Amino acid sequence: MSEIKAPKGTRDIFAPEVHKWQYLEAAIHAYYRKFLYQEIRTPIFEHSELFSRGIGSETEVVQKEMYTFRDKADRSLTLRPENTASVVRAAIENNLFEIMAPLRFYYIGPMFRYDKPQKGRYRQFQQFGIEVFADDSPQVDAEVIFAAVDFLKKVGIVQLQLDLNSVGCPQCRPAYLQLLRQAAHAEEKRLCPDCQRKIAGNPLRIFDCKQPGCADASRAFPLIGDHLCGECRDHFAAVREALSWMNVPFHLEPRLVRGLDYYTKTAFEVTSGQLGAQNALLGGGRYNSLIRELGGPDMAGIGFAAGMERIILHLERLAAPQPRILFVAYQDPQWLAHAVQLAQALREEGYPVAVDYQGRNLKKQFKKADRLAAAFTLVLAEDEVRSGTVSVKDMASQEQSKIPLKDLNAWLKKNY
Ligand code: HAM
Repeated sequence: MSEIKAPKGTRDIFAPEVHKWQYLEAAIHAYYRKFLYQEIRTPIFEHSELFSRGIGSETEVVQKEMYTFRDKADRSLTLRPENTASVVRAAIENNLFEIMAPLRFYYIGPMFRYDKPQKGRYRQFQQFGIEVFADDSPQVDAEVIFAAVDFLKKVGIVQLQLDLNSVGCPQCRPAYLQLLRQAAHAEEKRLCPDCQRKIAGNPLRIFDCKQPGCADASRAFPLIGDHLCGECRDHFAAVREALSWMNVPFHLEPRLVRGLDYYTKTAFEVTSGQLGAQNALLGGGRYNSLIRELGGPDMAGIGFAAGMERIILHLERLAAPQPRILFVAYQDPQWLAHAVQLAQALREEGYPVAVDYQGRNLKKQFKKADRLAAAFTLVLAEDEVRSGTVSVKDMASQEQSKIPLKDLNAWLKKNY
């Protein structure tokens, strides 16, 4: 029979790498609580319409990358490609705008995009992210950006670059897009077929194209930064000022456009000098129209999401914590019940404990203890059981001591 493999673009995570995931997840929970974020868990699949309306029907994610299927009742459902639209949907549906304060959410979970898999890019990947609703102050933008960059630094990631831009708002962007379309039409012949199609739909995405002709042509295109309305200009200036209060260095990137259509005003990305082509660790920005567009109140929003596989790649040097294992061995199967009970008592005390239920003789059990790199092996034999003791062998020094069971805890506290 042929072997069944994991689907392309997915991966299994197991020890020792899984220790890094546990470390990262614990760090996320601890860090974001300091800013009053509360965890939110939304479904893995949603009605497809949420993403076509929320992310934008012209985006690559919606056009090419969604895992969409029909269920048995012929509903169109989609595995979530991102979580911002879902968090907004959940807030509207559960009326969280009324019942929660502050409106600050964080999440950790798998997302799905039919992307071309390569190092750091998967079809099922894990994101963590934060979203803040109902606050349009530029200082919140700066705080969200700070909480993105500072977290990455705290988990030990170096060589970070923060790219920052403002992508305007429904007041100033339409007129700018007209100018951009005109400029793109004038250079249409130099653009790749994909970018030629973007002129009518979303010409901003031409800035993202890596084709040399498109990159060359777009260098002369008008920039949104020169066409912002007064409100967007003031907001962006205040964001930059607040970032300087918070000591967050940034790089102004006037061609930064995000792959999702809901952004207004501030947009940002954090990249790492240590990653190859897939160097974006996180991205985010403001989305002041999304909540209203999805049927909620007219309310501002801002957030970011980070690719956790890419962060894990940076944690390569992080030593996985090695649990110190206790191995309980028994000289004869008649002492197995005692061994099981001793193991239970030790686990209650918090120690990781192994027993070999199949252990036919002590030698084989010691071999197993060695394979598990046990710190101590505790042996129960007739003598020990009768006298209420246990022989404890330090596997590193090979020293053995006989300890009364009633003193074992205190002994372990000193020697473990
Ligand atoms: P995004 O830029 O599409 O934004 O994704 C955020 C991050 O997810 C990327 O910077 C990258 O690290 C990671 N990522 C994206 N696609 C893949 C993939 N195929 N494999 C591995 N990692 C990937 C969003 O998703 C927005 N929801 C962020 C946001 C939140 N904006 C406002 N709030």
